[in-house]
Amino acid sequence: MAILNIIKEGDPVLRKKCRPVEEITPRILQLLDDMHDTLEKAQGVGLAAPQVGVMRRIVIVEIEDKKYEMINPEIIETKGKQEEIEACLSVPEKFGLVKRPQWVKVRATDRNGKVYEVSGNGLMARCFCHELDHLDGTLYIDKAIEMYDADDIEDAE
Ligand code: NI
Repeated sequence: MAILNIIKEGDPVLRKKCRPVEEITPRILQLLDDMHDTLEKAQGVGLAAPQVGVMRRIVIVEIEDKKYEMINPEIIETKGKQEEIEACLSVPEKFGLVKRPQWVKVRATDRNGKVYEVSGNGLMARCFCHELDHLDGTLYIDKAIEMYDADDIEDAE
């Protein structure tokens, strides 16, 4: 169990392309466990390995009772469009309006080395897209149609 440091925007690490995981080692399993602890503490819905300084194609997504560990994930199908507000643990105090598919299907490997497919709608679809973008050094702020800071959101409420 460990809480990892979340790297913030401006650090070049977040802009690099991550390498695929070739073998699921004890170190990878430890990383997944630590990423869960870190995400829970930060109260986020998703976390990508580069956000904790590991340049490997690994993300986790936790929305309500659904938890996914995705090793070498790929989006294999998308449907529709949505425009919603996103945030990122690496970009504190900011929010942005981002266009994403309404529905996506992802193929990934789990911690046991088994390939699986999962689809998500709405928030889940956005989260899959957002986290997978991190693996190629893309942040939602690159795609945002509009950006807001925390004060703007509070004023609007
Ligand atoms: Ni993010």
